[in-house]
Amino acid sequence: MLSIAEKDLGTPKRESAELVTLTIDGQEVTVPAGTSVMRAAALSDVKIPKLCATEQLEAFGSCRLCLVQIEGMKGLPASCTTPVAAGMKVTTQNKQLADIRRGVMELYISDHPLDCLTCPANGHCELQDMAGVVGLREVRYGYEGANHLIVEKDTSNPYFTFDASKCIVCSRCVRACDEQQGTFALTIQNRGFESTVSASQNVSFMDSECVSCGACVQACPTATLTEKSLIEKGQAEHSITTTCAYCGVGCSFRAEMKGEEVVRMVPNMDGHANHGHSCVKGRFAIGYATHSDRIVKPMIRSKITDPWREVSWEEAIGYAASELKRIQAKYGRDSIGGITSSRCTNEETYVVQKLVRAGFGNNNVDTCARVCHSPTGYGLKNTLGESAGTQNFDSVMKADVIFVIGANPTDGHPVFASQMKRRLRQGAKLIVADPRRIDLVRTPHIEAEQHLKLRPGTNVALINSLAHVVVAEGLVKEDFVRARCEMPSFEKWRNFVAQERNSPEAMEAVTGVPAADVRAAARLFATGGNGAIYYGLGVTEHSQGSTMVMGIANLAMATGNVGREGVGVNPLRGQNNVQGSCDMGSFPHEFPGYRHVSDDSVRALFEDAWGMKLLGEPGLRIPNMFEAALDGEFKGLYIEGEDIAQSDPNTQHVTAALTSMECIIVQDLFLNESAKFAHVFLPGSSFLEKDGTFTNAERRISRVRKVMKPKSGYADWEITQLLSNAVGYPMNYAHPSEIMDEIARLTPTFTGVSFDRIDELGSIQWPCNAEHPEGTPTMHIGEFVRGKGKFLVTEYVPTAEKVNARYPLILTTGRILSQYNVGAQTRRTENNAWHDEDRLEIHPQDAEDRGIAEGDWVGIESRAGDTVLRARVTERVQPGVVYTTFHFPESGANVITTDNSDWATNCPEYKVTAVQAVRVSQPSEWQKRFREFSETQETLLKSADVMFVAK
Ligand code: SF4
Ligand code: SF4
Ligand code: SF4
Ligand code: FES
Repeated sequence: MLSIAEKDLGTPKRESAELVTLTIDGQEVTVPAGTSVMRAAALSDVKIPKLCATEQLEAFGSCRLCLVQIEGMKGLPASCTTPVAAGMKVTTQNKQLADIRRGVMELYISDHPLDCLTCPANGHCELQDMAGVVGLREVRYGYEGANHLIVEKDTSNPYFTFDASKCIVCSRCVRACDEQQGTFALTIQNRGFESTVSASQNVSFMDSECVSCGACVQACPTATLTEKSLIEKGQAEHSITTTCAYCGVGCSFRAEMKGEEVVRMVPNMDGHANHGHSCVKGRFAIGYATHSDRIVKPMIRSKITDPWREVSWEEAIGYAASELKRIQAKYGRDSIGGITSSRCTNEETYVVQKLVRAGFGNNNVDTCARVCHSPTGYGLKNTLGESAGTQNFDSVMKADVIFVIGANPTDGHPVFASQMKRRLRQGAKLIVADPRRIDLVRTPHIEAEQHLKLRPGTNVALINSLAHVVVAEGLVKEDFVRARCEMPSFEKWRNFVAQERNSPEAMEAVTGVPAADVRAAARLFATGGNGAIYYGLGVTEHSQGSTMVMGIANLAMATGNVGREGVGVNPLRGQNNVQGSCDMGSFPHEFPGYRHVSDDSVRALFEDAWGMKLLGEPGLRIPNMFEAALDGEFKGLYIEGEDIAQSDPNTQHVTAALTSMECIIVQDLFLNESAKFAHVFLPGSSFLEKDGTFTNAERRISRVRKVMKPKSGYADWEITQLLSNAVGYPMNYAHPSEIMDEIARLTPTFTGVSFDRIDELGSIQWPCNAEHPEGTPTMHIGEFVRGKGKFLVTEYVPTAEKVNARYPLILTTGRILSQYNVGAQTRRTENNAWHDEDRLEIHPQDAEDRGIAEGDWVGIESRAGDTVLRARVTERVQPGVVYTTFHFPESGANVITTDNSDWATNCPEYKVTAVQAVRVSQPSEWQKRFREFSETQETLLKSADVMFVAK
């Protein structure tokens, strides 16, 4: 259904250097070659009626409403499927055309319910609009004949309905699912009058392959496919453009509003990261923002066994500040710290690290990127010179070979995955390296050339053997390497990978991947044209995460695949602002812009701006904070929008550390797992309630805009500011734009960034400065950020986490489309309809050996702990490997993960845990304790009247 704010030009934009001039209704129009007559007309404000065409989809030419007359051409061609030609003379309006259009509309309307006044699309229905446009006044056929008016509605999807009685079989939904989303869930069944839209083989939407992306709903010109929220709330009154707060794709949306209520989220056609597409999370899963679990008033308590007490903001902030000061006075300056959030805005993250460095007087600040992409920062900085991905998403449309390593884009980064699938359907080749058969390996119209099904923990062995083939078979792009890279480092690396011990044949026993497959993949990547690497947490969350990132950068440089469109090294960031939180100086050793705290000139810059002497030694990382807490030296922690008790590894170790602290301040939307150990709860704000910016995986800075007032009274940046003032370090920002102005003043890669500039350009990819005033879509063009690219030797060191007779299986973890990370948001939405528990995927052979059947309870024990999950028996995992998601706290996935971590960054080794799995009949001891503790904490919360009540 039409967005209330967008103009649809009918057919997709065409890029061409060749311009074509034609005449439409006597007016001269010049457009790129390949443009349709319909689009050319729309660009010059000539409106041609249409129903089956939309800008988001290739023209189909089925409704015949857009017919035009073209001088010298026989018949009346459809303007949507007719490309422009030089000198063409088009007439869009005359009596003959008007009669035909009215006739077409008459047929449609004769089989359409006449309930416009009570229809949810009333006023925004393209069918209704077109009836008006063509001047339809009567339906000569009457309404008595055969029709589809009594077909039953499909309401199975939690977010939208399918009312076939209103369907005009224009097939926009089918094409949206095919072309835009790439799921191919819909078909038109039967012919002629019997034609109907069908999900899969005539099943309900919920039982089909549909992933609820919403593309078909957006494409539908009638109320056939309609959001339930729109049916319930009615049409919106205004819309505000903002950015999705879920994953690192950073999709742009229009929040369609009625007063302070969101009617629906509509993907923004002008969105630079998503071009009008969305996934089930950003499109529909926003109910958490007004969920009754949400805490909207501040609370305090002295001990975690005490009931929570609702207090005023003044008292809560005053208490938190006095506790932090008391702890520092008693245990020393370094006994407190802060954790920034990759879910909060850049501005909010910036003020938290500023509070820690300037207000607490130490560098004990860290972020959740520690547990996901810290090796990306380290590995890319040391090889290419910048801690970020090299491309924009659109670059994938120019890739010839796409190499996906340790990432599951269709679940983790769905909108980008749809774009990648489009490129693959156009003919690009795909290599997947993953222990598990992710969807991308085989999905409609796509099949990977190679699925390198490696054993978890052997990434570095695999990348070295791929590199070995490139070097040994003479596939190095010598010219590129000579011109762009440090030759001594290259030669050292080449001599290393050339060694026989790194050959695919030698490494086969380690990786489990047949040598021939490795050789074929390496040849394809090195010789297949533009090669682009996309990777995720399956690369970073290992004891050799940083080594693997360097290995990827080495391979990209050796094959000449950096520094132009269609290539590059692209980390797929998990959370919406994980790139931004790293950029903003969330790590204990770096100021904003990745500048080391020990650099005197950088420190002097910040000291001058912040009016404080700053420490030159790095502070504590999150795992070090836990160690120091258990040693009795670290006693106070301010956590903004992060749930370390659920997301960090070895849960029992984390909870022991949290229990040993004297003041934990949690700023969040819900009483999350960490808040159960807290003494002060500061109610945070959702992305709908504040202004700011997020930076996505492409380094793209986009605006987050306030669409409603903060439910708790303050946006998160304001809360941090109150706390800072209370601990004695003054902050007086009136608006987040002032914070961004300060960031821009102090950070060379951000000097050209401001809210006004983002508003002007739509979004900006950093670096944005005098050299790159409109931002930088592709990095390292001409030369690397560090000058010459540096190859680094990547010796494979097996993880200390070994399988043995007691723990014979390897557990690896990942995400699922419908849930998001710790699940705090998505678990409080209808997304649970797709995934309401974490399950253990186990290969049929391993299951049979253990007498485990589908749905059985399975006890999983590692060296760190044990938990119980239900089994899903599947060949998606290989024998010897088990897999689970980690979206539900009671699953205890992190009770079993160990303390092993990346040698350079301490990023936990979530992806490799040796475990045993046995059939059991009851929850684990940890789960029983967890339930008991959670119930107690829920009871302690009930004493305070702090929950959100929808008006
Ligand atoms: S459901 Fe909507 S988009 Fe699909 S064929 Fe029917 S009217 Fe067209
Ligand atoms: S919601 Fe998305 S996946 Fe589902 S049928 Fe529509 S377009 Fe296809
Ligand atoms: S792909 Fe990511 S950013 Fe886009 S709508 Fe989905 S969750 Fe949001
Ligand atoms: S809009 Fe051109 S044929 Fe339907």
